[in-house]
Amino acid sequence: MTIYNFCAGPAMLPTAVMRKAQQEFCDYQGLGVSVMELSHRSSDYMAVAERAEQDLRELMGIPDNYAVLFLHGGARGQFSAIPMNLLGQGKALYLETGQWSVAAAEEAEKYGEIDRLDLRCESQTLDLSRIPDTAGYTYVHYCPNETVDGVAMFEIPEVQAPLVADLSSCILGRELDVSRFALLYAGAQKNIGPAGLTLVIVRRDLLGHADPKCPAILDYTLAAQHDSMYNTPPTFAWYLAGEVFQWLKQQGGVAEMAARNRAKANKLYDFIDGSDFYQNRVAPGHRSEMNVTFQLHDAQLDQRFLAEAEASGLKALKGHRMVGGMRASIYNAMPEAGVDALVRFMDEFARTHAEAGRA
Ligand SMILES: Cc1ncc(COP(=O)(O)O)c(C=O)c1O
Repeated sequence: MTIYNFCAGPAMLPTAVMRKAQQEFCDYQGLGVSVMELSHRSSDYMAVAERAEQDLRELMGIPDNYAVLFLHGGARGQFSAIPMNLLGQGKALYLETGQWSVAAAEEAEKYGEIDRLDLRCESQTLDLSRIPDTAGYTYVHYCPNETVDGVAMFEIPEVQAPLVADLSSCILGRELDVSRFALLYAGAQKNIGPAGLTLVIVRRDLLGHADPKCPAILDYTLAAQHDSMYNTPPTFAWYLAGEVFQWLKQQGGVAEMAARNRAKANKLYDFIDGSDFYQNRVAPGHRSEMNVTFQLHDAQLDQRFLAEAEASGLKALKGHRMVGGMRASIYNAMPEAGVDALVRFMDEFARTHAEAGRA
């Protein structure tokens, strides 16, 4: 039976990447050691690190005036690092669109003055017209893809201040004009590679302003000065991320992934919308292409749905504990066949349990 893993993160990785990693696990390119046994300062490892950065720059079209940092600490680490590096005595605006942007704002409040603006409206839409003139802010933070809620903000908000975005669950999933941003960041464990690596893409003119109390390992300036090797970087995760970048290039790059992701998401949403057994409550213009949340009309069938899905090889469909219901995370590595299998299963489950679960 083919297994499809719909986990929101750590998420499935491309099978081809894992097979390659498996092949060279104990003996990286004839060196007789694993890549994770190499010194991060060895020329062999430096080549791995540099290629990964170059490939990411190419894939995302990252201009030269941006530093690309390969860090520890996850996206939550950046919730603290961002205000400590950028805020100074200023004030930042945090746009709230779901669980993660709220968490980012709550963490930032520890370090300075933060205004919070909730863009969520009834009927699960976002009201971008609420965004005020932001000229006085040191930066504006938002999260284009809310992993828990399955809510996306596809349009880049029009702001007058430097814009910071948490791309943890949508990086490399569709094209993005990096030059519109001051700083982008993402935990790796969804669309990049294994957990333990965090990417930060920061415009170089913003470096050099860290709070004197900023821990050295969260200081972007030190990280940039040391090519992300101020301390020992997460070498194996960095290597695997590099392999994912190579795979993405072979697939046709971000534009190709975006087309595939749109097709996968549309297929799933179309099925849900056409069913009286399942529903998705997010307004159509804000439905995530990465994390498709849905509910059974009869929540009493939830456990059964999950157990039968698992038995059919469809793993990790349980929604986040904060929102309940179901969630299918369909990042770059999820093939369309996985979505087809899920739709087939959902259709069959609905037929079998139609009497109990119909609205
Ligand atoms: C959008 C978003 N931001 C932040 C985080 C937190 O990431 P981490 O666990 O790497 O700290 C997550 C994790 O799921 C996320 O989806």
